[in-house]
Amino acid sequence: MQILGIDIGGSGIKGAPVNIADGTLAAERQRVPTPSPSTPDAVAGVIRQIADNFGGTGGPIGITFPGVVKNGRILTAANVDPAWVDFDAATFFSAKLGRPAVVINDADAAGIAEARLGAGRGIAGTVVLLTLGTGIGSAVFLDGKLMPNTEFGHMEVRGKDAEERAAERVREEKDLGWQEWGERVGEVVARLAFLLSPDLVIIGGGVSRKADKFLPVVQGMVKVPVVPAQLQNQAGLVGAALVAAEYAAPA
Ligand code: BGC
Repeated sequence: MQILGIDIGGSGIKGAPVNIADGTLAAERQRVPTPSPSTPDAVAGVIRQIADNFGGTGGPIGITFPGVVKNGRILTAANVDPAWVDFDAATFFSAKLGRPAVVINDADAAGIAEARLGAGRGIAGTVVLLTLGTGIGSAVFLDGKLMPNTEFGHMEVRGKDAEERAAERVREEKDLGWQEWGERVGEVVARLAFLLSPDLVIIGGGVSRKADKFLPVVQGMVKVPVVPAQLQNQAGLVGAALVAAEYAAPA
C-alpha cells in the first residue's frame, strides 16, 4: 500500500508517496518553499499542488505540522502563521483536499518512523528523538510507544528557548562553526538526558546528513548514545504516512 505523506516545515513543505510496508519512497520527494505568510489557505494550496503532482487514488493523506496537535486541532505554532492556533487542521485539510487527512506533530511523526523503521527500531526503554530544523522538535518513546506532543525545543537553556540557541536555523543565521553549534546542541541533549535518563537519543532533521561534523562533539558531552536518524529528512513524511495508513485500516 502507498500513502501520501506531507511534512510542513517552517521553510519547506515536502511530500512523497510512501510504501507503508518498508517506509521507502515510491517516487522522488517534492519540495515547495513554505508560502509567506504561511496561512492555512496558502499551505493547503501547496499541499494540493503536491498531491495533484503525484496523482493517485485520493486515499488518506498524512500531514505533519510544526506545533502541538491534539485530535487534528493545532494548539501552538511557533514557526508558522499564528492563524493556525486553535484551528481544526484535520477537518480543514480533509475538506480542502477532498480526502481523509490525518495531522500529527512533525517531530512525533519523525519519531514514529525512526522507532519503527530506523535508528530506534527494537530499542527497549526510553528513546528521545530531537529534530533540528527551523525549530527543535522532540518525540519521546517508552518501549516503542509515543508520548505525544512533548515540546523540549522550548525548554530553557541559558535563559533562552533551546531552539533559539541550537536549531539548525540558528547555526545558519549566525554562521556558527560545527564545534560551537555542536556544543549548543550538546547542552540541549545533556539537559534532556538529565531530565529523562533516556537509553538512546536520535538526532533528526536535514542536518542529520552531516552528523559526522557535529555529533562527535555532542557525544563527547553526554554518556547516553547519540545517533543520527536513519531516515534523515524523510522521517517526518514517512511517519505521517504510517499514521494515516493506520487511520485507513485500524488494527
Ligand atoms: C514546535 C514543535 C515542533 C518543532 C519542530 C517547535 O517550535 O513548538 O511543535 O515540533 O518546532 O518543528
